[in-house]
Amino acid sequence: MKRRRRVYEGKAKILYEGPEPGTLVQHFKDDATAFNKRKHEIVDGKGVLNNRISEHIFTNLNEIGIPTHFLRRLNMREQLIKEVEIIPLEVVVRNIAAGSIVTRLGAEEGTQLSRSIIEFYYKNDELDDPIVSEEHITAFGWATPPEIDDIMSLAIRINDFLCGMFISVGIRLVDFKMEFGRHYEDDMMRIVLADEISPDSCRLWDTKTNDKMDKDRFRQELGGMLEAYREVARRLGVLTENEPVTKGTGPVLVKTESED
Ligand code: TMP
Ligand code: ASP
Repeated sequence: MKRRRRVYEGKAKILYEGPEPGTLVQHFKDDATAFNKRKHEIVDGKGVLNNRISEHIFTNLNEIGIPTHFLRRLNMREQLIKEVEIIPLEVVVRNIAAGSIVTRLGAEEGTQLSRSIIEFYYKNDELDDPIVSEEHITAFGWATPPEIDDIMSLAIRINDFLCGMFISVGIRLVDFKMEFGRHYEDDMMRIVLADEISPDSCRLWDTKTNDKMDKDRFRQELGGMLEAYREVARRLGVLTENEPVTKGTGPVLVKTESED
């Protein structure tokens, strides 16, 4: 196999140069990390599941007219994406109080928020991704006021769509994190959704049992992380019913196009 140029390596993904100019290959690793990598494990098959779940979500978002970087899935662990200039912000939408809003503001976990809240964090591991305001974002030049407006209106549309998508399969979307990028085409720039949306970057609770079906299983050492991700994939129709959980070999997929 031809060697590819690695453009960027993050905690859970690697970006390689794509087959055509303006494209990249996004590769999903099995690494699970939390607390800025202070906790780190390999979870066999996680990358395959996140690739499929994120593909499903981004395909649906593209179909309803939300601009994203996603072009198509290439194989079990990789997808072809448009090259974008990543805006160094983690954009979090919260519907129900959990995680850092509980520790920071003393909200009670599980409280339905009176309106969805959008928060911005400066994407910088050395600083532990601190929360920032629109004032910081514009003063430090991370994004302009019109770009922040675009990001906020996309974030609300994405949240509305995902809440509906998950509730229809018995899952509450508690909160989730997004990243956005600038995509340049023919002298035009537009803000597009980038990165991934998967159980690594969402809080997902079963509507009946309140069971956690996301990375909190790993963060809080609850066990059963892979099984929970598989269940999310199964409910979204990404995996076949009744497949045994085979740790080690990774999950079996519904479709088998050009897998490698
Ligand atoms: P938080 O409650 O820890 O601030 O997290 C809010 C949401 O963002 C939650 O769904 C998990 C997700 N998240 C990430 O995807 N990456 C991160 O580095 C952090 C801290 C949170
Ligand atoms: N993604 C971050 C890390 O790897 C934090 C988290 O998701 O909790 O440390």
